[in-house]
Amino acid sequence: MSESPGGSRATDHEGNSMRAAMYDRYGPANVLTIVERPEPTMQDLMVEVVASSVNPKDTFVRKGRFKYQAGARFPKGTGYDFAGIVTASRVDDMPAGTPVYGMVKGWGGRSAADLVSCRRQEAAPAPRSLPLIDAAAIPLAGLTALQALRDNASLRPGQSVLINGASGGVGTYAIQIAKALGAEVTSVSSSASQEHCRRLGADHTHDYGRGRLPPGQRYDVVFDVFGNLSRREVTTVLKRTGRHVTTVPSAANLAATALTRFLPHRTSLVVVRSNHHDLLELSRLVQEGALVPEVQRRFPLTEVAAAHAHVESKHTRGKVLVVN
Ligand SMILES: NC(=O)c1ccc[n+]([C@@H]2O[C@H](COP(=O)([O-])OP(=O)(O)OC[C@H]3O[C@@H](n4cnc5c(N)ncnc54)[C@H](OP(=O)(O)O)[C@@H]3O)[C@@H](O)[C@H]2O)c1
Repeated sequence: MSESPGGSRATDHEGNSMRAAMYDRYGPANVLTIVERPEPTMQDLMVEVVASSVNPKDTFVRKGRFKYQAGARFPKGTGYDFAGIVTASRVDDMPAGTPVYGMVKGWGGRSAADLVSCRRQEAAPAPRSLPLIDAAAIPLAGLTALQALRDNASLRPGQSVLINGASGGVGTYAIQIAKALGAEVTSVSSSASQEHCRRLGADHTHDYGRGRLPPGQRYDVVFDVFGNLSRREVTTVLKRTGRHVTTVPSAANLAATALTRFLPHRTSLVVVRSNHHDLLELSRLVQEGALVPEVQRRFPLTEVAAAHAHVESKHTRGKVLVVN
């Protein structure tokens, strides 16, 4: 792979090349380099990316944890989330010039680049009340929080929800979406992140350094974002008819999902989906002031490897952006 010179925008509309963050083998963050690539083939939309964000999925795929799904063809791109401006369009509701945001589906990450091509279902107009760059912090984590709480947990007004891993990408949206759905929220985080969770709307906060779960409480919903709670631990804090939602497809969580499927206190795994209507719903929450992305760090595209390393610390507060 040939490295692109400098850090500036390298898309050349006549020469049809662009910069992209890619890697030619599975490995640590430093396998990522910025290379010149041909522009992607147009799907429904071609988007000039202003920013992407890094999710744990990017780091897991790059390390080879999902080799079966991602396959053995290299080089591979990285990045699922994006925000940018439509440069060419085959759909009426997002013509050229529209600021959009979205998440490319599947295992072929590619949004950490100057251009991304996507389907209509994977994008929506970006919330107008936010800087476009910050909209890139929302899609994958925001969709996960929305789909987990609304669809898996069927969270209703007045119910109580415990969110474990509340200060990270998914958790910060989960706190805010649970409040928007009218729930009473308890966050679980490190002591250093408790104030952050309170500021986002948590009614109660718990420091996992004092025990993984708050003692003596029971909840209608346990959303285990961090994914380290056993079904046995969850049972001690879940009401008899409560719902347990996890993000992690471990053998234990998959077994719990199958075994509790028809029980009132069931476990389920959220599997995030690209969805145009859900992106519109997230935009609506942002416009109403109910959802604010928390961006901890911004890295230039040329430092995408450092952005991955930051997320791999497992202590990101909110989100990490990669800015073009
Ligand atoms: N199934 C799906 O569709 C799906 C979708 C999205 C994400 N996920 C998965 O969900 C997980 C979380 O994603 P994310 O984007 O929120 O990750 P993230 O932003 O990297 O999460 C970082 C957060 O984890 C917290 N944390 C670290 N150790 C903890 C512990 N022992 N107990 C509780 N919290 C702890 C940290 O809080 P402190 O700094 O306060 O310790 C930090 O705020 C990842 O495994 C990701 O792959 C799955």
